[in-house]
Amino acid sequence: MVGGKKSNARVETHQSRDLLTKWAPRVVFLLLLVAVGGWLDTIKERWYIFDPSELHELAKAAIASSNDTAGMIQHIVTNLTLTHPSNQIRINADSSEWVFNNAGGAMGAMYIIHASITKGHTGLHTADDYFNILVGEEWAFRPGALEMERYTPGMVHFMPRGISKQYKMHEGCFALEYARGWIPLMLPFGFVDTFTSTLDFPTLYRTARVTGREMLGNIFIGKI
Ligand SMILES: *[C@@H]1O[C@H](CO)[C@@H](O)[C@H](O)[C@H]1NC(C)=O
Ligand SMILES: *[C@@H]1O[C@H](CO)[C@@H](O)[C@H](O)[C@H]1NC(C)=O
Repeated sequence: MVGGKKSNARVETHQSRDLLTKWAPRVVFLLLLVAVGGWLDTIKERWYIFDPSELHELAKAAIASSNDTAGMIQHIVTNLTLTHPSNQIRINADSSEWVFNNAGGAMGAMYIIHASITKGHTGLHTADDYFNILVGEEWAFRPGALEMERYTPGMVHFMPRGISKQYKMHEGCFALEYARGWIPLMLPFGFVDTFTSTLDFPTLYRTARVTGREMLGNIFIGKI
């Protein structure tokens, strides 16, 4: 009887020690991750090369330079290629690489000009998002707002991180979108619809391939 009790107690302490060795490292790892993330967040500005107000100027110049969307895109890509040396940042000049994108119940198409792990394409997010309207209109509202926001060519729809809105790309709208922040954390938003709704795996493949290629290409030249 007594002996049996003793060994039961031993088994219990053994089990709780097992539980501790199993969970302590995980908790420490999680705390480290939060600490490193918090620190990186305070210094992330160092890695940004594009400037939102310069991109806004560029979007306005593109609108002035051309009255068709292809011409505007060409203007933007040519300007970015000329103003940023290729050893500093990778620009994807192949404007034939359009892919569909389904996210948050909206469907669109996009061409990824630049993707790195701190900047790229986007939708509630861990990054600030600048949506430069080139053609058409974008409409948006926040819950409780009784008047819709309307963005026309030359305007920027700025979405700070953590904010979500309903939006509509009205009348053949095209925009230059620039997101800065923690891009890998926002990619699931762009991809999850493939699994739950569209099952369009070729598109997922093409998007992931272009995004991955551009991100890695940027990492190789030291642009994170
Ligand atoms: C790029 O666009 C900006 C903004 O419109 C302009 O100030 C700059 O001169 C352009 N650079 C080139 C090389 O076209
Ligand atoms: C742009 O519009 C002007 C008139 O507003 C027209 O003369 C010109 O041909 C158009 N250019 C293109 C590329 O469509």
